[in-house]
Amino acid sequence: MSTFSKDFLWGGAVAAHQFEGGWQEDGKGISIADVMTSGNNKTNRKITDGVLPEENYPNHDAIDFYHHYKDDVKLFAELGLKAFRTSIAWTRIFPKGDEDEPNEAGLQFYDDLFDELLKYGIEPVVTLSHFEMPYYLVTEYGGWRNRKMIDFFTKFATVVFKRYKDKVKYWMTFNEINNQSAMLNDWSLFTNSGLVAQPDENIERSMYQASHYEVVASALAVQIGHQINAKFQIGGMFALGPAYPASPNPNDMMKALRSMQVNTWYADVQCKGKYPAWLRKYFERQQYDLDITLADLDVLKAGTVDYIGFSYYASHVVQAVTNEAADFTTRDDETEIPNPTLEASDWGWMIDPVGLRYVLNWLTERYDLPLFVVENGLGAFDEIENGQIHDDYRISYLKDHIEQMAKAVNIDGVNLMGYTPWGVIDLVSAGTGQMDKRYGMIYVDKNDAGEGSLRRLKKDSFTWFKKVISSNGDDL
Ligand code: BG6
Repeated sequence: MSTFSKDFLWGGAVAAHQFEGGWQEDGKGISIADVMTSGNNKTNRKITDGVLPEENYPNHDAIDFYHHYKDDVKLFAELGLKAFRTSIAWTRIFPKGDEDEPNEAGLQFYDDLFDELLKYGIEPVVTLSHFEMPYYLVTEYGGWRNRKMIDFFTKFATVVFKRYKDKVKYWMTFNEINNQSAMLNDWSLFTNSGLVAQPDENIERSMYQASHYEVVASALAVQIGHQINAKFQIGGMFALGPAYPASPNPNDMMKALRSMQVNTWYADVQCKGKYPAWLRKYFERQQYDLDITLADLDVLKAGTVDYIGFSYYASHVVQAVTNEAADFTTRDDETEIPNPTLEASDWGWMIDPVGLRYVLNWLTERYDLPLFVVENGLGAFDEIENGQIHDDYRISYLKDHIEQMAKAVNIDGVNLMGYTPWGVIDLVSAGTGQMDKRYGMIYVDKNDAGEGSLRRLKKDSFTWFKKVISSNGDDL
């Protein structure tokens, strides 16, 4: 008998802004991803003030899935995918975000895409907001600082829930909603919440305020979705690399615990329906006096998620700073150190398959909900040799992680719904804006400079993953 259930969702994951291209097609508006330049593992992406003619914006054209979707879906079918995780670009549906009526051409594109997937028996798994909110909502409303965002988001959610109620069953509200808390940096604040720090602004306070509006919007969306179709499965989505203590020093241990708490309070709210005590205390101590109403707290209770979707790429090691007590709320980069027992990717991400089993156990104990690994994978440079890509490093990464998932299911009794590795087809990196940081099993001929024919090629990992799926994970 297979380790994984017979309806296990083997799939692949992407996000609209990272692969669709067509940034101005059929009425699409400018999203926050459209004002982010390319970068690399040494240079950060820039967030520009609008779209500037002299800059390079890799998401504008990406891999042009918008015009290649039929052929690409055919390849996904050949790979044997049972599920395909993507997001709906909010700006295709509401180009500016505050319109009264949605854009029919945008809605039609996703109808066509979902029909194409369903034609091959591939289940769409859809994220509502994946780092691509309308840019207009940032410039006109200040992003998620503004309570009005809750209405704009729930309107968008209601429109797409109604439109696709018979085509999509699995949904997630906000992608990696917790990034903004774990790494207080420009990129996460902007991609999660459309926040750009203003002079003299207490950006941490704004981040918590924005996060609160997001968890309320998420809880409302869960309730609205269930009213539209009681069969909907609506999950949260969190980035979950475990934090290990740097040593047995109790202060390091406390730091690791607090780091996990900081990283997962969003999951506490979305799964348990309430804020954890340590965070309420922190708000009090900081005198943040956030706009959190009693009605909001009721919404949070009533809108808990059906399952936990999460991304797992790497683990982290944290160290207390000179015997401090863990009286902090953000995981500061300077307290994170490399793990000497692990190898790192070319982008410095620690490769730790056992960490995935650890997280699966940790989440199960804490929330006791079905789990869905909706992102995992190795970003790597690929070489083409005589038209072939021998990506044994990727196969080995994925195999090692699947083995740990199997242990979590078989030995630890974790309830696992599926596995959709990241970037089943090469796409633009969210963190660096690169094309050459590749995750796919399908190669796309395009490089960091934006050059290439866009031709698709199957990598060795394509053949390997096809076998994994057809054997339901038995043949690794
Ligand atoms: C997650 C995101 O952070 O990791 C994806 O949900 C992203 O959008 C993925 O692409 C991998 O990160 P990166 O920076 O290598 O693209």
